[in-house]
Parts: sequence; C-alpha cells; structure tokens
Amino acid sequence: MATFDIVISGGTVATASDTFVCDIGIRDGVVVALGLDLAQDAKQVLDATGKYVLPGGIDSHVHISQPSGDGIVMADDFESGTRSALFGGNTTIMPFCLQERGKSIRQSLIEYHALANGTCYTDVSFHLIICEPTPEVLGQDLPALFNDGYTSFKVFMTYENLRLTDPELLQTFDVARDLGATVMVHCENEDAIKFLIGKHEAANDLRPGAHARTRPVAVEREATHRAMAFAEVVGTPIVIVHVSNGQAIDEIAAARRRGVAVTAETCPQYLVLTAEDLEGMDWEGAKFVCSPPPRGTEDQAACWRGLQDGTFELFSSDHCPFVYDSVEGKLNPKGAKQFKHIPNGIPGVETRLPILFSEGVMKGRIDINRFVALTATNHAKTYGLYPRKGTIAVGSDADIVIWDPKVTAPIRHANLHDGADYSPYEGLEITGWPVTVVLRGKVMVQDRALQGTKGDGTYLGR
Ligand code: URP
Ligand code: ZN
Ligand code: ZN
Repeated sequence: MATFDIVISGGTVATASDTFVCDIGIRDGVVVALGLDLAQDAKQVLDATGKYVLPGGIDSHVHISQPSGDGIVMADDFESGTRSALFGGNTTIMPFCLQERGKSIRQSLIEYHALANGTCYTDVSFHLIICEPTPEVLGQDLPALFNDGYTSFKVFMTYENLRLTDPELLQTFDVARDLGATVMVHCENEDAIKFLIGKHEAANDLRPGAHARTRPVAVEREATHRAMAFAEVVGTPIVIVHVSNGQAIDEIAAARRRGVAVTAETCPQYLVLTAEDLEGMDWEGAKFVCSPPPRGTEDQAACWRGLQDGTFELFSSDHCPFVYDSVEGKLNPKGAKQFKHIPNGIPGVETRLPILFSEGVMKGRIDINRFVALTATNHAKTYGLYPRKGTIAVGSDADIVIWDPKVTAPIRHANLHDGADYSPYEGLEITGWPVTVVLRGKVMVQDRALQGTKGDGTYLGR
C-alpha cells in the first residue's frame, strides 16, 4: 500500500523563512513528510521540477455577496469568488459578514453561511463588519460570537451608512481588547470627504476622477493617526487595512516606535494603479473607483518600501467586484452621472498573487520568503489559522500551490474567473503564474485546468 496519497516532487519549496528542494508527502489531506525520493511511495505524483512550491495563498480581505443597497449587486457570489481565488493561487479567503441594520448579527451570519454552504472552491472564514455597536451588540453579541469562532471584525471611519463615531470606535476597541479579538480599521475621515464632495459638486466636477480628489492622502493619514491613537489609549492591537500612501505609512512606523501594536496591510491597487487611471475616457475611470483611491508613483514606491522593510505584514486584494457595464454595477443610473454614486471597490482576488510574484519576486523587489509571508503565513498568524494554514510543514493542511516562473502572459479578464466584466489590471504583463493548486490534499487545479468541484471548500471556525 502506498504511504502517500500524493507526492509533490522535485520542486523548490519556500516557506516564510526557508527555501529548499524536497518532496512533499501528503496523506489524508495533511502534509505528513518532507524528504527526498518520496515519489515511489505515492498513489499520485505531481512533478514540480523547475517550479516553486508554496503554501496556498490566504486572502484575508475579500468582499463577496455583501449587501450594497441602492440596487447595487456585487459581481461575485461564493461560487465565482472562490473559483476566481483558487485560480489565482489561493486556498483560503476571508470575506465579511455585514451587520445589517434592523437584523441581528446572528441572523446575518445564518444567511451568509447559507450562501457559502456547498458552493466554495476554497476554504473560507468570515470576519464581521460592525456598523451599529449598540450596548447589546458590544455587551452580548460580540462576546458570544467571539466564543463561537468569529474572532475578527472590521470597522469603518468612512461611508455614511457604515462609519462609527469616535466614541463608538473607542467602545468597540475596548470590547475587542477584553475579548482578544482582532479589529480591522478602514481609515478615512468621512467629514473631510463629505466637505470635499460638496466643493466638487458645487464646481460641477462630477466625473470618476473626482473620487480620488475628494479622498486625498490627508484624509487617510489623519484617520490612520486617530485610529492608532485610540488603539493606544485603549491598549488594544489593531489592523490598518488597505494603506495606500507614504504619509499613512510614516504614521504607522511612528506609532510602532511608540509601542502601539499595529499590523498594516496594503493591496495591489496601490502598487500598480494611480489616480490617473480614474480619469479614463467615457466614464472608464469608474473601473478604478475604490477607497482609499490609488495615488501617485511616489506613493507606489513608498508602498513597495513598506513591503520590503516590514511595515506591511499583510498583502491582500480587497476584492470588491462590481460589473462595470450594468445598472446594478459601476454604471448604475446615478453612478453613470455622478462619481459619488459609483460603487466603491474593484476585482482582484485572482490577480493579487500573480501581480506580487511578477512585480515583486521576479523583478527582485522582494524575495520568495517575503512573498510567502505577505500572502499566506502572516494572514494565518494574524487571524488565528496558523499553523493549520499558511505554511508547508508536517501536520499542516496540504494547501499547496505550484508556481511556474517561466509562464509569461498579460492579465486578460477573458482568462479570469470572477463575475465582473473587466479587470483593472488588463494588459499588465505577468511573469510567473500558479499552475497547480492543491486544497487539503485534493488537486483542485492542474496545469491551469479545473479539477475540483464546488463544495470542496469548507468553513474554518477560528
Ligand atoms: O473601495 C473599496 N475598498 N471597497 C471595499 C470596501 C472597503 O472599504 O474595503
Ligand atoms: Zn475598507
Ligand atoms: Zn475592503
């Protein structure tokens, strides 16, 4: 009888700390051996000679099937979103269950789980979005949900219907500290944005490019500073998500020097897009509307430095897809006339890893171990999935991706698997693509062709 269900042989294996050539023996969905010459003892052999063998990507910032209101519908459900994630080299994603007004979070979770059940191609685990931190939510719901494995939640300092006031932020941080929960913070100053939107409306500057002009660096820098000051006052760690610019990075570095426990995340849009993209002709700029908006080339360089020097521990997609050419998407009746009604968010769960692999590893900006840390290991550690997920080690889930550094092809939406009708990265040349994806010992994608079935992904309590 064979010792292993699968052996991945001859590849260059990289974890967040080491790079070595070895075979990986997998049995019952788990890595059971790292060694040499394991292949003769396997039912199935995946030859990875000349390729990288990496832990499956974990994307801890993904929006799927999130209610948006106003007739807007997200382009991905769990089936298309996880399929797209899988082809992009991910084996776990972490979407958000939104607290809906007038509904208990429990009820929202029941409904969100029902959407995911039996439809996922990757493993999933949910964060919560808290937008109404009432005494009941803070005193009863969050502690009970934490005990049930919902150990992280996102709060917003912007968006009229989501933002928390300063007292609410402090109270929510306080509860997180007592529980040991992880709070993710979207840092932009809503009042300053509203003020600027009023100015641009008065000047009849209504095109998509005005989105970036009404959310300048200062509104993000100020909110980043305030969130970290509140975390310092309360004495709780926080995660600052989707950081876009050098001034916010400087604030994070300064807070860290004071001893504030801050984890920071950036995303592909802040490395390869700019505010200029929002100026596209014929409302095409709407394809790039997200918050915070992409900035300029100096801020791109600052984000690269942050990835290199350890300021950023997380590299996520903030996948938040809307169809461009649809009344339910970017070109909804109001959004087609006025930037402030264009739904915020861009697709990117399938392109996150190829962009960082190509622009980062292949261009020599970061090494392969840093790539693994930024895209898998640190996500597992930050959100309580390590060491089951996020590394290749004996005893870990066999979530493994084979990357071919010789495959060169531009990003074309026609070749992607999400539910949107465009990619903001269309035409970007990529060197190195994930070719084979194994999820808990099951070959889900082989030589870039789907082998797995929906429902192979499971929910991960934490
Ligand atoms: O524009 C964005 N980022 N949309 C997604 C929601 C969020 O703020 O992360
Ligand atoms: Zn956000
Ligand atoms: Zn987001």
